[in-house]
Amino acid sequence: MSETTPTATAAASGASATERFLTDKTGMPAEDVDTARVDTLAAAVITAVHDVIRRHQVTYEEYNALKSWLISVGQDGEWPLFLDVWVEHVVEEVVTGSREGSKGTIEGPYYVPDAPALPSVATLPMRDGEAGTPLVFQGQVTDATGQALPGAVLEMWQADDDGLYAQFAPGIPEWNLRGGIVTDDEGRFAVTTIQPAPYQIPTDGSCGRLIAAAGWHPWRPAHLHLKVSAPGHAPLTTQLYFKDGAYPEADVASAVKPELVLDPRPAGTGGNEVTYDFALAPAAL
Ligand SMILES: [Fe+2]
Repeated sequence: MSETTPTATAAASGASATERFLTDKTGMPAEDVDTARVDTLAAAVITAVHDVIRRHQVTYEEYNALKSWLISVGQDGEWPLFLDVWVEHVVEEVVTGSREGSKGTIEGPYYVPDAPALPSVATLPMRDGEAGTPLVFQGQVTDATGQALPGAVLEMWQADDDGLYAQFAPGIPEWNLRGGIVTDDEGRFAVTTIQPAPYQIPTDGSCGRLIAAAGWHPWRPAHLHLKVSAPGHAPLTTQLYFKDGAYPEADVASAVKPELVLDPRPAGTGGNEVTYDFALAPAAL
């Protein structure tokens, strides 16, 4: 795993993540704004900031440094990165806290819809000689009562052995290590991929400057990203981590949960295999 390559692509990754968000997501609605809700939330955030200023006796130098930094986050295209690393995990916790079925976690900034569809037994698209330990990831998708869900779609995306994502770092084939696996008649799937590497979030932009200034670390533990969906069920967005991986508990994005840690075993073919089942909650009415 290279420790220098990811930083070389920070600006490209940030710009790609911002562009992707603006293309794929619904932003603030232009109409039907709930004024009372906006008042409640905006006033609460501003009041919380006032409280920090009073409690920590913030100076004008610090206030101006904040202004300058906020401007640079936008210029670097790093708002999606900042929000998904330091804020999204609490939104996910609030939204899914009482939901049945498997645990989810944050989506992060590197999801791309419409990945190539793959059969229930498949290999993720990868380059010839893709670096990394081969991994067979298999399991079953059911509803919350354990009933199999044939035809469920398991979208997977992951970093390569250098910690880089296709479509966000240059020089990687468009759909490398990305795919949408469709489960068989028993809701089962078996995907051959490579075990991803831990990676640093980009460190040469504004988020990296914050991390350095605060003395934090920029690492995410190795993980597979997944989005599991089936008609009539609430889609599940999650990540799966690796026992014994580097940084299993110290995650800059605070997204690791005990239920999401895999324990792969040697498969006898030079690689590893691991089984993980997903249970989907009913769709919200
Ligand atoms: Fe990731």
